[in-house]
Amino acid sequence: MKVLVTGGMGYIGSHTCLALLDAGFQPVIFDNLSNASKAVLTQINKISGVTPAFVEGDIRNTALVRQTLEHYGCEAVIHFAALKAVGESTVEPLNYYDNNVSGTLSLLQAMDSAGVRRIVFSSSATVYGEPDYIPIDEHHPLRATNPYGWSKVMVEQVLADLCQADSRWQATALRYFNPVGAHESGELGENPLGTPNNLMPYVAQVAVGKRSLLSVFGNDYPTADGTGVRDYIHVMDLASGHVMALKARLEGYFACNLGTGQGYSVTQLIETFRQVSGKAIPCEFVERRPGDVPCSYANSELAQQVLGWQAHKDLTAMVTDVWHWQLNYPMGI
Ligand code: NAD
Ligand code: UFG
Repeated sequence: MKVLVTGGMGYIGSHTCLALLDAGFQPVIFDNLSNASKAVLTQINKISGVTPAFVEGDIRNTALVRQTLEHYGCEAVIHFAALKAVGESTVEPLNYYDNNVSGTLSLLQAMDSAGVRRIVFSSSATVYGEPDYIPIDEHHPLRATNPYGWSKVMVEQVLADLCQADSRWQATALRYFNPVGAHESGELGENPLGTPNNLMPYVAQVAVGKRSLLSVFGNDYPTADGTGVRDYIHVMDLASGHVMALKARLEGYFACNLGTGQGYSVTQLIETFRQVSGKAIPCEFVERRPGDVPCSYANSELAQQVLGWQAHKDLTAMVTDVWHWQLNYPMGI
């Protein structure tokens, strides 16, 4: 079965393409390369022996998306394409709503006219805003604290309304917690252009000597060691969640968390990285980063019940794979 993968050249999309190939699906990547390198195709080929079909284009180009769906005979879409920098979204809200919300509307219109009405959508734990309780389950109210987060809440609402209005549509929103890690081959991983916003790629770049010092944002949170706690999930576990969502053959709209259910602090992650890499990883405590929540981790029972999915890889596996990738490609690809 052919699956259109929007944003398939990006971090999570490229790893999901490997999982799709492994499961016998044929991914067709659709990406405008705004945050990815074409070299990803070479890396996918190195690992799998297959170079997926690739169309360079923007999801806001409805006609091109429709043409691509029809040309390749795609039967479903996995929709990763989005802008994802929280801070940037507060400065450029129009750009974020245009790319993430209008972009998704354009994609859905193209799908509808091509008669392809199955979609798996990259949502985020950010749709819970500052959590009322943890572990966070799917009954938690939806809200956001920045335009990026609202763009995810809005798209989820559009998908729910679409499935409600037309029973031919099936949409699954997967709410990722904190995706980290790399493919176990060390040939594919997160390849941030510029300064990383997220903790794991930053730590990896300090460990490899590309950056001198890690700033830890806050050590006065109400957590065991005072640093922020997150539910880090291996990108290949996340990738398998998408394959299971495609295989599940659900009806209507469904949303679930993808997390491990286990929270780790910034300090615990740095310590694990030190142990795995044998590197010192200099760091300093600085002010809290505005908008950060103290603690966030998932209740992922729903994904287990409905999709039969659960995460298998622990923090040491995540760090080991990141370090392998970082050593292989210290300057990225
Ligand atoms: P990424 O930036 O690595 O990948 C996104 C890809 O989409 C990039 O290759 C980019 O070039 C492409 N793209 C962006 N806008 C496009 C457009 N208008 N048309 C076509 N292609 C476009 O990001 P990622 O980390 O792989 O995230 C994938 C998805 O998962 C995103 O929707 C993101 O919001 C969501 N998500 C990510 C995280 C995370 O921490 N990485 C957490 C929760 C949710
Ligand atoms: N942190 C540091 N130093 C850094 C970067 C991060 O101390 O240089 C800390 C943060 O304060 C936080 C933890 O490391 O306590 C994790 O931060 P990340 O930026 O890696 O991840 P976030 O939880 O802030 O956000 C991520 C994605 C969002 C998504 C959210 C929930 O970036 O897009 O997970 O899924 F919405």
